[in-house]
Amino acid sequence: MYAHNLINLAVSVQDNGEKWIKHYSSSHKILLVGEGDFSFAACLAIAFGSANNMVATSLDSKGLLMEKHPTAGPNLKELEDRGCTIVHDVDAHTMSQHPLLTNKLFDRIVFNFPHAGFDFREHDILQIIQHQKVVKAFLRSARDMLAENGEAHVTHKTTHPFTQWHIEELAEEVGLRLVEKVEFRTLDYPGYINKRGARPRSDRTFLVGECSTFKFGVKNGSGKPEDRTGPINSQKIVMKVQLNSDKCRSKAMKLVRLVFFFMRSVSSVEIQGADKDELVVIGERVDSVGLTNLLRKKVGYAAIVKVEEMKAKEEPKKEVEVNPTPICYTVPSIVYYEPNQSGCSIM
Ligand SMILES: C[S@@+](CC[C@H](N)C(=O)[O-])C[C@H]1O[C@@H](n2cnc3c(N)ncnc32)[C@H](O)[C@@H]1O
Repeated sequence: MYAHNLINLAVSVQDNGEKWIKHYSSSHKILLVGEGDFSFAACLAIAFGSANNMVATSLDSKGLLMEKHPTAGPNLKELEDRGCTIVHDVDAHTMSQHPLLTNKLFDRIVFNFPHAGFDFREHDILQIIQHQKVVKAFLRSARDMLAENGEAHVTHKTTHPFTQWHIEELAEEVGLRLVEKVEFRTLDYPGYINKRGARPRSDRTFLVGECSTFKFGVKNGSGKPEDRTGPINSQKIVMKVQLNSDKCRSKAMKLVRLVFFFMRSVSSVEIQGADKDELVVIGERVDSVGLTNLLRKKVGYAAIVKVEEMKAKEEPKKEVEVNPTPICYTVPSIVYYEPNQSGCSIM
């Protein structure tokens, strides 16, 4: 009841009876994705009075959700009582094809604090790639489900390493543009308790710190552009690597391909040299120093030998010799590590 009173204070009512809480109106058709304990959905439902305009979803089945979030029960009841459509097992990758969602259009599609779980440390590039997959899938699916002038909202931390997710670029690549970025405060949504969502400690809340709601709309005339095709201006990076076995070599190549597939960067990766000790990477926007440090950490010794500027479909033009043992701690796009000279270690 305490939360209900606070929610009522947070609501503004228009002359026509339309109710607003922050960015959301009782006249919007709203789809909520990746809910935790459904407290955000419940907050909106209470604010609007009726939740006939809302569909609230979780990735988990109802059974798993109740295991992870024992507190979800009352929120689900509140939502049901107010006419909200609740759907479980909704994956951001496939939500536009979900039988209950297909051919439905929404004015607002919202994913608060998307997160892929905790397989690696939060600042590890491999973890960031997993997060990017979820966010990009959400944005791509949302693009197909937006009504005219509709918006996809992602609330996300704006501090390092979360800035490394580059969510504005991900949106751009699926044909969305940033409409507005607004500071997010949990206080604006009384009763909402943001949840970790993944094990261990799924039901724990977390400090949101500095964060914003990123609002994206469909780019004018963009249709469904989807991902970039081929490099325009590329770099060829030659790295000396110490890979002790074919297994390590293939792990190194796999790692580079994985990283830069999501960085939308590399067009080829090869092992060269008589001793099979050169890794040659060609692509655009390649962060050579970050890549080298990543290889050192995850695979073994690596050092840049040279970086060549290339033009699309042209031979290498300009060659820049690089100190073979770079020490650089200011990589903009890739997380980096203290050098690890040990042998091949993961993957
Ligand atoms: C940090 S929690 C945030 C939960 C909730 N949105 C909140 O604000 O409390 C991240 C959520 O993303 C969900 N999630 C992860 N991958 C997803 C996917 N592919 N599709 C939909 N939801 C996903 C998880 O189930 C988890 O609940």
